Amino acid sequence: MNWNKLIRQGHRWVSIIFTLLVTGLFAAQGFGYQPAEWVFLTPLAPLALLVLSGLYLFVLPYVMGGRRRKPSPQ
Ligand code: HEM
Repeated sequence: MNWNKLIRQGHRWVSIIFTLLVTGLFAAQGFGYQPAEWVFLTPLAPLALLVLSGLYLFVLPYVMGGRRRKPSPQ
């Protein structure tokens, strides 16, 4: 598996973990459970990974130098 594909899939799965953490925190509060203060900081870890891998994915097409582009449909 190539490096770019690995980072894209990592970004995808970490985004799921991040979403579950944030929705879980909101749901817990909705049900009257008040988590400890540090629990509110846990989404920051996956978010940091998402920022790094997301910026990598963002610059990828610009540094590819025109390689691997699909031919334009005629
Ligand atoms: C915080 C900074 C983030 C940056 C800079 C960023 C950037 C990007 C970029 C550039 C792509 C590729 C888009 C493309 O090639 O068409 C991407 C894909 C994606 N992003 Fe992010 N993203 C960030 C955060 C998030 C967050 C918070 C989520 C969801 C909770 C998320 C979920 C996704 C998903 C699901 C994809 C599609 C991945 C795939 O299956 O190919 N991203 N992101």
